Amino acid sequence: MCGIVGYIGHQDAWPIILEGLQRLEYRGYDSAGIAIIDHAGELQFRKTVGKVNGLISNGQEDWIQGSIGLGHTRWATHGRPSHANAHPHTDCSRRIAVVHNGIVENFLELKRGLLASGHRFSSETDSEVISHLIEEGMDRGLDFEAAFLNMGQAVQGSSAITAMLRGEEGMLCALRLGYAGGIVVAHRENQGIIGSDLPAILPLLRLQPLGEPVGFLDAGEMAVVTREGVKYRDLAGNHIDKQLRVVVPEDVLIDKGGYRHFMLKEIMEQPQSVAGALRERVDFEAGLVVLPDFPISDQDVTNLQRVMLIGCGTSLHAAQVGRHLVERLAGLPAEAESASEFRYRDPYIDERTLVIAVAQSGETADTVSAMQMVREKGGRLITICNVDGSQATRLAEGTLLMRSGIEIGVASTKTFITALTLLNLLATYLGQVRGTLDRQQSRQIVDSLAQCPRLIGEMLADTTLYQRLARRFHTYNNFLFLGRGINAPIAMEGALKLKEISYIHAEGYHAGEMKHGPIALIDQGMATLALAPRDALYDKVVNNIKEVKARDGVVLAVGTQGDEELAGMVDEMLPIPAAPEILIPLLATVPLQLLAYHIALQRGCDVDQPRNLAKTVTVE
Ligand code: AGP
Repeated sequence: MCGIVGYIGHQDAWPIILEGLQRLEYRGYDSAGIAIIDHAGELQFRKTVGKVNGLISNGQEDWIQGSIGLGHTRWATHGRPSHANAHPHTDCSRRIAVVHNGIVENFLELKRGLLASGHRFSSETDSEVISHLIEEGMDRGLDFEAAFLNMGQAVQGSSAITAMLRGEEGMLCALRLGYAGGIVVAHRENQGIIGSDLPAILPLLRLQPLGEPVGFLDAGEMAVVTREGVKYRDLAGNHIDKQLRVVVPEDVLIDKGGYRHFMLKEIMEQPQSVAGALRERVDFEAGLVVLPDFPISDQDVTNLQRVMLIGCGTSLHAAQVGRHLVERLAGLPAEAESASEFRYRDPYIDERTLVIAVAQSGETADTVSAMQMVREKGGRLITICNVDGSQATRLAEGTLLMRSGIEIGVASTKTFITALTLLNLLATYLGQVRGTLDRQQSRQIVDSLAQCPRLIGEMLADTTLYQRLARRFHTYNNFLFLGRGINAPIAMEGALKLKEISYIHAEGYHAGEMKHGPIALIDQGMATLALAPRDALYDKVVNNIKEVKARDGVVLAVGTQGDEELAGMVDEMLPIPAAPEILIPLLATVPLQLLAYHIALQRGCDVDQPRNLAKTVTVE
């Protein structure tokens, strides 16, 4: 997604903004730009197509001197990646610089009006209308701040916008409309910084002790940042007494820790991610799940009639596993659905419906908008999220924080495993309250979850198998991932991991569906990976494996360690430890992450920032 950085203070703006943009690279983008108000009060622009480093060809002498500036990384929506379409954008008189994340839904109508009144455009983007709207307000006599606010009242859709005016007025205006990407504001020692998320404003925070307050803009909120301080206003122009949030070290810890890629580091962090998710949520003595700040009373939990789990991408796969857990452990009808579908089908929701939104970033536009709809329909709303202070955590009645630490790799790994851990805890908790689980069953679940960090750690201890498998399979252009029951979403997840970082076409399928069509795909060029742990559906999956082998298909199987029968019938075995059935989705994910990672490496792909993708999809 697009990234925004703004700075105003007494230091050179260029290096602070540049570092902020570099820290936002993980979000995915295809062009970048910086605008600086130079010492003569004029606006200077520099843009590049491709990576941020394209903005600096000769090091420090390349900097544009000045102490106020805006930077942007663009993920193209309207208009292809080009210098003209790269942000910041300006107005006819080059007085205003604007950066934008999101979509101006009424930009055609606005552009027509602006063209009719003589404005001239230099890009194909929807974003450029913003700078001309501000200009038009100023031409009508409004000051910059009032013209900015006026623009915010005209623009429709979800957007995050920051703008500045040339000259020594020394002001940055930022605005958040709807649920597009966030805006974070920090101010210290006559310096202000604005960013799309915490990592972007690290350069300034790093200069100061952490623990200081920052402002996360909510939908419909505006910040006016000067060297003297920050004013918060609503879209009607009223002053807001903004509640600030204190930044804590794990919010800003960004480092590869000696690993080659963030994704590998985050895969290796999974044992502690699971342990972190369990911390203070399990009473090991009593053998119970405890969720002290769960916002729904026991009475209301008992009265629940159904559960709907929503999410996108990997989070949707977690939701699909969660659906099995809720039905099995809490005895409640449950369904899982993509948030992008859920939000548009006008689902039946009432106060006896619990919606669980899984969202690592807490900023995915489809998920956040779906949550807003649940609120409007009076449903109960919980989120499983990794970013405290994100939109999702502010919309939900309660949050089960993943506590996984920031996840930089575009391909979600540790946060998926953590989401599954939390879904186990939540389903068990609901079962405890509703009486569908007795003490012994709760204890079994708790004891099983407690083994997870160790079992995952054992699988991560030696990954040479995956390096060998990658050498054998990295030339395949088609993969089929098969799973049944609670492991079917893991097949989808394995396919998503492979396709998003290696660009191999991979499909996740319910194994039982093979004979209804997909088996026609089997040939020497199609690799099939089957999830075949020793569980209740083992024999069914073995039948599917035999159907593929009977047609000379190549089969890899994720299977229980020591299952020689399975090993003897497939081409490659990816072992997981023997474990209770509810843990298998968690454990079976690890081999699929490692397989995808090593194949992508073999194919020379950009593992942490795969093409066309963004870490957080804040456009709809
Ligand atoms: C998965 O590896 C991708 N990064 C993507 O599918 C992601 O899961 C999806 O965009 C949802 O993101 P969220 O969990 O932050 O809402």
